[in-house]
Amino acid sequence: MKFSNKAVIVSGALGGIGLAIVEAFLAEGARVGLIDLNAVDGAEQEKHLKSAGHRVKYANADVSSFEECKAAFEAITAELGGIDILVNNVGISPKTGGRALRVWEMPPKEWETVISVNLNSAFYLTHLATPHMIQNKAGRIINMSSVAGKAYCDIVAAHYAATKAGLIGLTRHWAAELGEFNITVNGLAPGRISTPLLATVPREINDAVTRTTALGRLGTPEEVADACLFFASDQARFVTGQVLDVAGGWLMT
Ligand SMILES: NC(=O)c1ccc[n+]([C@@H]2O[C@H](COP(=O)([O-])OP(=O)(O)OC[C@H]3O[C@@H](n4cnc5c(N)ncnc54)[C@H](O)[C@@H]3O)[C@@H](O)[C@H]2O)c1
Repeated sequence: MKFSNKAVIVSGALGGIGLAIVEAFLAEGARVGLIDLNAVDGAEQEKHLKSAGHRVKYANADVSSFEECKAAFEAITAELGGIDILVNNVGISPKTGGRALRVWEMPPKEWETVISVNLNSAFYLTHLATPHMIQNKAGRIINMSSVAGKAYCDIVAAHYAATKAGLIGLTRHWAAELGEFNITVNGLAPGRISTPLLATVPREINDAVTRTTALGRLGTPEEVADACLFFASDQARFVTGQVLDVAGGWLMT
């Protein structure tokens, strides 16, 4: 069990990739805190995972609010006895009629929501987690970017691309700030992964991605979780400030 003495927090933990990451850490013996915005599903998932013998805590929060992040973070760390690994996974990519709005069409409110959920939440949770990690002189932070944060991708809108590029900037900056405390900060840049997020775009778009992906298929949430566990593991102890594409050779940034 690679993570048997580790406490992990995952944001957006009820989604396709988030839940795969939660389950992968649990399978390796970790205690896991789940943050998401669906109290009913969250309570059910917590019950289900506890009944399988895992140590988990679900906390409901709209991660665009610092106060809600703080309450969730405190509830989880109290239950799990601290935090060793933070996965800033939450992300939204709104479409209108299956299409990404262009700059002149986009309501400022939608812009602000995406920036808050995808980018501000990573700052809020990292701001809360780092004092614990600094005290422990150890920690792992993994930010969920996207290939759309590295290369132009016409499927997503500019707000999404900006937040995913922003997460890459934060990954490098925080890696430099936190290295002296033995805290590593890395990022993942998934390509097209089969999750509910994909249901927001027409099927032809995903088919076109498959045709231009070297491995000729979409990825699975478990494949992203595998890469996440690598960054969190002892095997990656001298790796920091890096963003790894998990994209099957799509866009090849
Ligand atoms: N699926 C892909 O193809 C793909 C590709 C590249 C990057 N990503 C990134 O991976 C991450 C996970 O994506 P996914 O495909 O699992 O998405 P998903 O839609 O399946 O899950 C997202 C989760 O975030 C939660 N959430 C949304 N808004 C929230 C808020 N304000 N507060 C708290 N929780 C909130 C949702 O309830 C959901 O459970 C995201 O950051 C996404 O941008 C996904």
